[in-house]
Amino acid sequence: LWRELPSQPNKTMLLAVIGDPIVHSKSPVMHNAALAALGIEGEYFPLHVSREDLGSAISRIRELGFRGINVTIPHKVDVMAYVDRIDDSASRIGAVNTILNENGILTGYNTDGIGYVRSLKDETQVDLRGKSIMVLGAGGAARGIIYALAQEEPKTIVIANRTEDKAIQMAEEWKSLVNISAITMDKIEGILPDIDVVINTTSIGMHPKTSQSVIDPEMIPPGIIVSDLIYNPLTTELLKKSHERGCTIHGGLGMFINQGAYALEYWTGMPAPIETMRTAVLKSLQ
Ligand code: ATR
Repeated sequence: LWRELPSQPNKTMLLAVIGDPIVHSKSPVMHNAALAALGIEGEYFPLHVSREDLGSAISRIRELGFRGINVTIPHKVDVMAYVDRIDDSASRIGAVNTILNENGILTGYNTDGIGYVRSLKDETQVDLRGKSIMVLGAGGAARGIIYALAQEEPKTIVIANRTEDKAIQMAEEWKSLVNISAITMDKIEGILPDIDVVINTTSIGMHPKTSQSVIDPEMIPPGIIVSDLIYNPLTTELLKKSHERGCTIHGGLGMFINQGAYALEYWTGMPAPIETMRTAVLKSLQ
């Protein structure tokens, strides 16, 4: 893929996603559709970059005058060492998924958490202020989301994780921002009756193990909001069962679209064509 890059870029706007693996990324399809809809001459490339090549890849991207980069697994933390500036929220989250290049100065942002929250609010119409939220999992994906949720002034956030220490550490870290606590998985059932929104940030239920669910959906109170970061499948077992129980469900596709939308807005300064982006991704998932 690097070989396909122009040596003398003549497009107005060059964009890329770097990761390993990268072939399955839906970002190129989504952003190329968005550029076309906005009438911007440009192209978004998928670039396979291994851990050893991260530094040289960033130098090359800077030299070639790329306007923007998305960063995905496994580089979201390591890439912070190669940018010139890091936005405050990305720095608190400790991960960068979006880079903006302004005349050779690279700034790192994190649009995963805010993308998730924007999608949750848009798709379920929930007002998170004063709500009680349970986050399942305490890994990298949970970090950005908890940070973004904290900005919405919920009543409380409860982190439930298999390894209690990780949840305790995370709660400790964010306690100056929000009322937050940590529990183990066996305490979930007792607390769920007080919860308004449950969010699965673990990969349990992801393709190909689609029959799995991180918690028994039978214990979810009917009528609450249940959200899953997974978007393959679009509706996980957890969401399917929760829907049958009368819950409002929210899948992970919206997070993916909206993290891309925020990134595109940094790069272009224009509102992202969200519906065009969603249609392009859905078409490529078929
Ligand atoms: P990511 O960056 O995608 O969040 P991660 O940092 O590896 O990935 O975190 C995965 C999360 O899923 C963790 O909270 C993990 O729990 P542990 O901290 O106990 O490892 C959780 N997880 C993964 N597999 C799990 C399983 N089989 N049961 C319960 N939780 C699981």
